Amino acid sequence: MRVVDVDGSETLLRAVQQRLGDRVAVHHHDLEEPLDFLADQSFDLAVMALVYHHIDAREQLLDELRRVLRPGGSLLVSTTHPTSDWTHFGGSYFADDRVEFPSGDGPTINYWRMTLQTFLGEFLGAGFVLEELVEPRATEEARLTDPRRYDRTHAAPTFLGLRLCRP
Ligand SMILES: C[S@@+](CC[C@H](N)C(=O)[O-])C[C@H]1O[C@@H](n2cnc3c(N)ncnc32)[C@H](O)[C@@H]1O
Repeated sequence: MRVVDVDGSETLLRAVQQRLGDRVAVHHHDLEEPLDFLADQSFDLAVMALVYHHIDAREQLLDELRRVLRPGGSLLVSTTHPTSDWTHFGGSYFADDRVEFPSGDGPTINYWRMTLQTFLGEFLGAGFVLEELVEPRATEEARLTDPRRYDRTHAAPTFLGLRLCRP
């Protein structure tokens, strides 16, 4: 099996390489640019965990993911839940705008908040077919580890996940 990890952060890529060694090929790349180092229809699965909402050139990125996936291939995507962003940032639920999220001592995280219609519509508009939509909740194991956080994340959605098919 061939696994390629693409990210714009050398720190994250180093951590992946340390953990997985030569089971993964890491590629430092700005996802605002085409994936021209990957061949057409060369992957069965693409995973974008909490990355999509950082990207400006999302239409181009989806075209590229469609190009490198084989017909019948899968795309798994996760993002912040639109209602969680709305609760946190306020204003209009329908504001598709860039927001800034301070992350403790680290750098401020900057991303696009999107309505469910915008988020899902972009994937459907790019020709992907929705197979499953999930709103994950904290598990029982999480309750034992951190009850206060469990209460918060069990009662309100935090993330949204999609499983899509490239027809
Ligand atoms: C919230 S982290 C998620 C990391 C990892 N996927 C995970 O689930 O743990 C967001 C990731 O998106 C990457 N990223 C954001 N904008 C990017 C861009 N323009 N090109 C490449 N990677 C980008 C960051 O480097 C970072 O690794």
